[in-house]
Amino acid sequence: MTDQTNQPTKVAVVTGAGQGIGKASASHLAADGYTIVVADIRPEAAQQTVDELEHRGAQAVPVRVDVSDPAACTAMIAEAVVHFGRVDVLVNCAGISKPAPSLDVPPEDWQRMIAIQLNGTFYCCQAAGRQMVKQDWGGCIVNITSVTAQAAFPERASYCSAKAGVDMLTKVLAIEWAKYKIRVNAVGPSHTETEMTRTNIARGLYDLETVTHRIPMGRLASMDDIANGVSFLCSEKASFVTGQALYVDGGYLAYGYF
Ligand SMILES: NC(=O)c1ccc[n+]([C@@H]2O[C@H](COP(=O)([O-])OP(=O)(O)OC[C@H]3O[C@@H](n4cnc5c(N)ncnc54)[C@H](O)[C@@H]3O)[C@@H](O)[C@H]2O)c1
Repeated sequence: MTDQTNQPTKVAVVTGAGQGIGKASASHLAADGYTIVVADIRPEAAQQTVDELEHRGAQAVPVRVDVSDPAACTAMIAEAVVHFGRVDVLVNCAGISKPAPSLDVPPEDWQRMIAIQLNGTFYCCQAAGRQMVKQDWGGCIVNITSVTAQAAFPERASYCSAKAGVDMLTKVLAIEWAKYKIRVNAVGPSHTETEMTRTNIARGLYDLETVTHRIPMGRLASMDDIANGVSFLCSEKASFVTGQALYVDGGYLAYGYF
């Protein structure tokens, strides 16, 4: 497949693209000219994203994946290659949030969080990496981490541990795969206007005013703020950037005052 200038159309696989930051990232990458593989555990949500992308003239296909299943991650990349012959970008955005006091967290909840956020990110990176190694031109991976990779939040032991793990995973894969022209970076959002954040506010875990007061720029991140970071890291403008975490956080991590 080629674009209007007869260049091959680049392909981006985005997990968790059924809604939220993943969907916004898919939308920005489609605007950047990528064909999108919209991967999510909820097929109807993936289809909805595909419909919206196609409505705007982009090319996209839905793929159902549970990223905690390594075979499903391999199958997702294989499906991308069957459809489009290549994988240029992987964005690992699938995620869950389940805050609870550490004294009460059952082992199955701990394991599910690590299985999706950390193991799933690795399985997808490995599957995509194996394809990118076969391509002369390599590829680009962006892992969505969080400010919680750096800053401890109470009642989120598994979430913070997983995100900190993905931060280090990003660096290890970046240095290991640089010789294959595969760049691996992370985007770390602060609280973002998504379903995940709305649910946490509705559950009374925090209130909007307290959060926005803690963020020097005084607001939640928009999904576009985060997707802009993804788009930049996938672009030629970031051609010598690898092993980095870009915190799109309105100054959250820099802030150490009262
Ligand atoms: N929302 C925030 O404030 C915030 C802040 C920092 C980091 N993040 C991270 O950004 C990512 C996206 O967050 P969001 O707010 O857009 O979440 P969201 O809940 O709005 O969307 C997450 C998507 O992932 C999918 N998903 C869940 N489990 C999956 C699995 N096992 N396999 C495949 N898909 C699965 C869901 O179906 C959903 O479509 C997550 O990794 C999250 O931890 C979010």
